[in-house]
Amino acid sequence: MVKTERIRYIFKTFWDTFGGYKRQILLMSGLGFMGSITEGIGIGSMIPLLSLAGGSSAAGTDVLSQAIQKAFLFLHLPFTIKFILIGIFLMFLLRTVFIFLSNYVTALIVNDFQLNMRKRLFALTLGSRWEYLAKQKMGHLEQSLTTIVDTGPHIFKQMSSLLMLSFALLVYTVLAMNVSVIATLGSLGLVVVSFLILKPLFYRTRAASKETEVWYRDIAHHINQTMIGIKSIKAGAAENAFLTKADQLFTKYKKLDLRLTIINAFIGALSKPLSILFILLLFVFFYKIQGFEYPSFIVIVYAIYRIFNYSEGIQHEVNKLNTTVPYLNSLQDFESDVRKQQEADKGQGQFKFNRAIEFKNVFFNYEGGREVLNGLGFQISKGETIGLIGPSGAGKTTIVDLLLRLYQPKTGEILVDGIDVSLISMREWRKQIGYVPQDPFLLNDSIANNIKFYNPAITDVKMREAATLAQSIDFIESQPQGFETVVGDRGVLLSGGQRQRIVLAKILAQSPKILILDEATNALDAESEQAIKQTIKQLHGKMTIIIIAHRPSTVVDVGRILVLNQGRIVEEGKPATILSDKTSYFYKMYQAGIYGLN
Ligand SMILES: Nc1ncnc2c1ncn2[C@@H]1O[C@H](COP(=O)(O)OP(=O)(O)OP(=O)(O)O)[C@@H](O)[C@H]1O
Ligand SMILES: [Mg+2]
Repeated sequence: MVKTERIRYIFKTFWDTFGGYKRQILLMSGLGFMGSITEGIGIGSMIPLLSLAGGSSAAGTDVLSQAIQKAFLFLHLPFTIKFILIGIFLMFLLRTVFIFLSNYVTALIVNDFQLNMRKRLFALTLGSRWEYLAKQKMGHLEQSLTTIVDTGPHIFKQMSSLLMLSFALLVYTVLAMNVSVIATLGSLGLVVVSFLILKPLFYRTRAASKETEVWYRDIAHHINQTMIGIKSIKAGAAENAFLTKADQLFTKYKKLDLRLTIINAFIGALSKPLSILFILLLFVFFYKIQGFEYPSFIVIVYAIYRIFNYSEGIQHEVNKLNTTVPYLNSLQDFESDVRKQQEADKGQGQFKFNRAIEFKNVFFNYEGGREVLNGLGFQISKGETIGLIGPSGAGKTTIVDLLLRLYQPKTGEILVDGIDVSLISMREWRKQIGYVPQDPFLLNDSIANNIKFYNPAITDVKMREAATLAQSIDFIESQPQGFETVVGDRGVLLSGGQRQRIVLAKILAQSPKILILDEATNALDAESEQAIKQTIKQLHGKMTIIIIAHRPSTVVDVGRILVLNQGRIVEEGKPATILSDKTSYFYKMYQAGIYGLN
């Protein structure tokens, strides 16, 4: 019972996945079927061939031999050894062509499917909400798009070989029946019995593969984490912990893999002696009971040997299907997950920003977390330079994430010129905001390509301008390769400050309408910070600028300061004005900064 459900499930999975290829599947099956038929005729022709060779003047008495003789008559061909030999050769030649074409169609379908699946999953992943992406494990996506996408669709190849094997089995069964019905039924019975004996092993294979698939992804994740954290790992001499964890993962994987291999080998090994035993019994049966006709005997022994072979092949394929299905399922689950997480963009409107951005009574909490923003309200006029400060964890970056529409407010609105930002096209919106994050990202590529990250069409003049504005031109030009210097993975070959200034340059090269610097100067020395402040001064009025900072010195000469605490703005005003209030948060931070406490 369970088994039929399982088989139905495999077929359903197959059909859900490949149902779109009906015509090709039909073609592949047709070709495979023709391949088997021609092979059957070729082998069947051995009986008349051997009969004639044995000195008999006619073909065998069996139906097939008679039919072949009639076919020769019909085609006006002499029924001689020479022509039968030619016929057999032609049949096998045809068979080869049919089977090749059938495999070719199969390969086309599988590769087409893999390509589309890869493209689809990659696009869907990029299109999903940040909230979902932020929780994904590193390495899992890589694994899905590389190995799993390679393995999963093999279900098609296996299904196709299953079909071919079934055709072949059918043809050899007919061939064997043609000689002796009893012997054929006997061998088919034995096939069923061996299938039943091996059934528990199939279940084991499936369970082990399921586990292997999960383990595979965990290994990818661990390797990925290790590589990302490699500097911290080495710096803290923490290699052992990572090695131990890797050891555990690798060892467990090895055990699972070994178990799979052994089960498969066992299944293969068990069926060989059974088939030899049966052929020996067959010999006794023909010798003692059926009356011995040499040509028929040879053909039926061969046919039954093939029946065993093909049944074994079928078992093997079913077993392989069991190992593949979890991979395909994992892809399907991934796809359906990621489809549910697509970033909804109802906005059609053009980006227009002429007056002000406003956060109006915004409440926000991360899933399952406490309230981060608590009725937050503030306005930023076009062209203003704002300093946003507040204790760590106050929600400063969260405000930026909401502004970038990576998250939506739970209640309240974010308005631009009085219009809800969600009505503006998301791509348009994001393109106008230049964001230098707390943990800047660089490609392992040249400085030039990093500055042109958002738009490869940026001219070299514009690139140099941006680099100059970001106060990075001097150090770039002092590099041996200048703008062609490669920065290493995530920019590891540069200093923290250099990295930040290149990120700033890549943002400025975009000429955004709104510029957000999230702790962008925290890795800079006082002199570079001063230089960046100079940049900001130059940009003043040309862009709307939000500077998030811990160090009050960074924001002391902005137009207006917003102090965030407990999810609300608790202080607001010109820096000098807030500083004159000695009880203010800003004043205390400023004092601490001056006395080197910050
Ligand atoms: N993706 C997230 N999922 C769940 N909670 C988060 C997430 N990001 C931030 N938080 C939580 O939200 C709160 C505000 O975080 P946020 O990053 O906005 O603080 P911040 O003011 O930028 O702090 P800092 O000055 O240290 O950068 C923190 O308590 C943080 O733990
Ligand atoms: Mg932050």
